[in-house]
Amino acid sequence: MVRQAAVSFAGVRKGPDGTAAANLSGNPMRNGFLGFDASFMLDFVVVALVAVVPVILWSLYVVKVQRNYALHRLLQIALGVILLVTVVAFEVDMRMQGGWERIINKDLASPRRSPDEIATIRQFLYVHLLFAISTPFLWGTTLALALKRFSAPPLPGPHSRLHKTLGWLSTFDLVLTSVTGLAFYYIAFIR
Ligand code: HEM
Repeated sequence: MVRQAAVSFAGVRKGPDGTAAANLSGNPMRNGFLGFDASFMLDFVVVALVAVVPVILWSLYVVKVQRNYALHRLLQIALGVILLVTVVAFEVDMRMQGGWERIINKDLASPRRSPDEIATIRQFLYVHLLFAISTPFLWGTTLALALKRFSAPPLPGPHSRLHKTLGWLSTFDLVLTSVTGLAFYYIAFIR
């Protein structure tokens, strides 16, 4: 239902043979901006996945070396908001574009990837999803507990031990989300 609605929203044009070819180029969200013919949101997510890594490293430097806990809190909240907005926008967009396979093989008449290649790309996607799905939950838990249990302004305290464990797990989860997401993008659109 949703997919059909999305297709008719984007507009289905007639192909050269007169049949209804799903040429959706009239939809601006259909086209990316990185030059690899992905979708706008996929390119946006790739930029976000690259951008979050230096921000995390900065936040860790701020908390471990500078002991600026208030700035660490601000950076981690900002990362959480970026993560949430990206995930929601990405999910909505995926549904509107008809799924990742339709983004890779936009032109059904001459598909860019063979069924075998799609199967390989799917394996990459499943590994990525493992991290991409767990990260928002882990991140949300770490953030919520930290905001609830640390003092204001934040200082090390009884919650430090659990927070460090959750904090490092969340950090690795997000970095692996980023690395596997970029790997998916690479094999789907660049290679
Ligand atoms: C999901 C969000 C967050 C992540 C991933 C995260 C990650 C981390 C990590 C990995 C450390 C340990 C650094 C080390 O090994 O010394 C840490 C320390 C700390 N974080 Fe966070 N943090 C997050 C949110 C917050 C928030 C919202 C606050 C404040 C309300 C906060 C306050 C602190 C404090 C006070 C420490 C120092 C603990 C200590 O040294 O005893 N964090 N954080």
